[in-house]
Amino acid sequence: MNEQTPLLEDEYDIEDHWIRDKKVRWSLYGAGGLFGIFVLWAFAFYLPSRFIPESRPFDGIQMVKDLNVVFEPITPEDSEKQFDPSYSLNSKGSKQRLILIGDVHGHYKPFRKLLRKVNFNNKTDHLLLLGDFITKGPHSIKMLDYLIEHKVDCIIGNHEYYVMNNYARFHNLDPPFFVGNEDDNKNVFETNGGFNDDPEYLLAKKLQPHHIEYINQCAVIKTLGPVPQHKAKNEGSHKYSDGIAVHGGLRWDIPDLESQHAVECLEMRSLIGPYFNESTDDPRADRAVSWSKIWNLKQKEKNDTDTKVVYYGHDARRGLNLKRFAKGLDSGCDTGGDLSAMVIWQEKARKRVMYKEQIIQVQCDD
Ligand SMILES: *[C@@H]1O[C@H](CO)[C@@H](O)[C@H](O)[C@H]1NC(C)=O
Ligand SMILES: *[C@@H]1O[C@H](CO)[C@@H](O)[C@H](O)[C@H]1NC(C)=O
Ligand SMILES: *[C@@H]1O[C@H](CO)[C@@H](O)[C@H](O)[C@H]1NC(C)=O
Repeated sequence: MNEQTPLLEDEYDIEDHWIRDKKVRWSLYGAGGLFGIFVLWAFAFYLPSRFIPESRPFDGIQMVKDLNVVFEPITPEDSEKQFDPSYSLNSKGSKQRLILIGDVHGHYKPFRKLLRKVNFNNKTDHLLLLGDFITKGPHSIKMLDYLIEHKVDCIIGNHEYYVMNNYARFHNLDPPFFVGNEDDNKNVFETNGGFNDDPEYLLAKKLQPHHIEYINQCAVIKTLGPVPQHKAKNEGSHKYSDGIAVHGGLRWDIPDLESQHAVECLEMRSLIGPYFNESTDDPRADRAVSWSKIWNLKQKEKNDTDTKVVYYGHDARRGLNLKRFAKGLDSGCDTGGDLSAMVIWQEKARKRVMYKEQIIQVQCDD
């Protein structure tokens, strides 16, 4: 018995004395602490940064761009066949149809369904989206990837602009700005709410530099060249006007497009009487009248000299809204309505050219 006791103490010493040594113990605590801090840092900063896309500073948003596309008149036989998916028009380099699509809002499946229905062919068709192609719906990133891959043309909507502002906030960049629009750039934009669970902020966090590059090159206004002057009836017209595309609307009292106010162009729905020289996005505001109604009246007063037809989106509440000089194409895809395309083309009719357009729609049920 006496012999065993020291032996036990010896074993005890051998196994444990290194942990009882104060220096060793404190170094272990130190190492553990450092490791803990490293783990915290990794989870809090390093790992998330691996998933934060690189940021890309903004270029100025252009106020007005020209479509820069030559449209070739087609023969009436071609036009009968062009909505038949098995038929493909010959390509001569120039384009044959201009296709305008209203607010898609990330509804990628109805968008693709609509392209199939109009038999979209990127060799012979020029596709232009009228803004608000992202946010709200389920597939904003997929939309952007498609538009980039297929080089689809765009104008900017208010929601692209809001997402750009959220992107600037997330990456700590200077906010987006409009070229030559000093007044609009002075009004520092308040991102709506500014909370970090704002869906437009969450979308902005996911955007890659090439997504921002795409959105950034969408102008506020696009001039389209000659478009038909009638109420989208299929028989067409020899009369044409200059076409303009804008997301929200235009002030009739500012004839120079470069001098329009960018944010108004993105957000307006109505003008306020009695002078209609002030815009609002609230159609129920006191003395507010739809900007397109005023625009249409003012163009009629011009007696066919220098009239302009405006194609726009942004007004799902008023829905598809076809006037002679103003054509609203937001038919409420995001709220279970339709997605609308305006297809515009020219036909050879004896020696004259006939200007034609047609609305094609699909139901949004994704
Ligand atoms: C048409 O789309 C393809 C991708 O599907 C692209 O490579 C090509 O450049 C586009 N052509 C035109 C004229 O935009
Ligand atoms: C609108 O026009 C009226 C009459 O010309 C003018 O008195 C008023 O200041 C204008 N309002 C704005 C906001 O420009
Ligand atoms: C258009 O015609 C009407 C009636 O013929 C005339 O009163 C008006 O002044 C004309 N407007 C322009 C801009 O020429």
